[in-house]
Amino acid sequence: MNEIEELRLKIDGKLVSINSLESLTSVKAELLGRKGLFANLIDRIKLLSKEEKKIYGQSINALKVYTENRLNEIKIGLEQKQKEMADKASWIDITLPGKAPLVGKIHPITKVISEIIEIFVSLGFSVVEGPEIELDYYNFEALNIPSDHPARDLQDTFYIKEGVVLRTHTSPVEIRVMESQLPPVRIISPGAVYRCDNDISHTPMFHQVEGLMVDKGIRFSDLKGILTIFIHEMFGEDIALRFRPSYFPFTEPSAEVDICCVICGGKGCRVCKDTGWLEILGSGMTNPQVFRNVGYDPEEVTGFAFGLGVERIAMLKYGIDDIRQFYYNDLRFISQF
Ligand code: DAH
Repeated sequence: MNEIEELRLKIDGKLVSINSLESLTSVKAELLGRKGLFANLIDRIKLLSKEEKKIYGQSINALKVYTENRLNEIKIGLEQKQKEMADKASWIDITLPGKAPLVGKIHPITKVISEIIEIFVSLGFSVVEGPEIELDYYNFEALNIPSDHPARDLQDTFYIKEGVVLRTHTSPVEIRVMESQLPPVRIISPGAVYRCDNDISHTPMFHQVEGLMVDKGIRFSDLKGILTIFIHEMFGEDIALRFRPSYFPFTEPSAEVDICCVICGGKGCRVCKDTGWLEILGSGMTNPQVFRNVGYDPEEVTGFAFGLGVERIAMLKYGIDDIRQFYYNDLRFISQF
C-alpha cells in the first residue's frame, strides 16, 4: 500500500507540471501509453500470487481511473483557457471612437465647370474637348488674329516650337468643330488654357469655357438670351448685367458682358475698380471671315460665340480675392467648397 501511495504522489507531481496541451500529451503518454507507467505496473501483476494480484490489481486500477479522470479535467481546463485567450485576442472595443476616413472633395474649379456644363446642356448644347497643345493656325490664324497681334508675342504665349503653342484660349475648338461638322452647331468646350502671366489675378494655367452656336438665322438677340439665362442661373435671377461693345478679331460685332459687382452691390469698390461692374465674359457674332476659313458660307449661316474665365467666375461666386489660392492645393482652402 505504501508503494501505491508513493505512485500517487509521483503521478500528482507529473500532473501539476502540465501547463499546456502539448505537455499534457507527453505526460499522458508517459503514464498511460503503451510503454508508460501503467503498462509497466500491469505487466508486474502477472508475477504476483493470486491473493496479491487481487488487492494490488484493484489498487492499480483505481489509480489508473483516477489518473485518467485528472488528465481529462486538466485537458478541459486547458482548452477552456485557450479559447478564452483567442476570444480576448479577437475582441473589439466598440466603444472606442472611430477613425474618420479622409474623404476627397471636388476641386472648386471642377465644381464650377460642372455647374456651367449643366446649365448649357439644359439649353441644348453638347460638350466637346480640344487639345491643349495647339497649332498656331487654330489658336490664332483661323480665328482671324493677325500675325502682328500682341497676343502672339513671346511675352504672352508659350511656344512649344515654330507653329505650335500651348493654347491661349479655348476658341480654337470652335474651328476644329466647324471643320469637322456642318451646321447647325451648338457646343461648349471647357478646358485649361495657358498664358505667360503670374500675379494676384493671373496664373500661367487657368480654365475657360468656350461656346458656339451656328445655324440659319442666329441673331444677336439669341446671344443675349442665352447668356442672360446662363448668368441668371449662375449668379441668381436678381443680378443686373449689361452688354458692353468690345472688339475681338473673331467676332463682329463683339460684346463683353458685365455683371453688377457682387462685392459692393454696384456702389464701387477695389474689386470692380470703382465702376460697380465686373467683366465676366467675351462674346460676339462670329466674324464672316472665320466662317470662310472653315468652309461655311456666311451668306447661309450666322452664329454667336462666347468665352468665359472659370477662375474669375469661381472667385466672384465664392468671394476669393487671390486666383493663386486655387492652385496651392492647401486642403484648408480647397475643402471649403
Ligand atoms: N477667346 C477670348 C479670350 O480668351 C474670349 C472670347 C471672346 C471668346 C469673344 C469668344 C468670343 O468666343 O466670341 O479672351
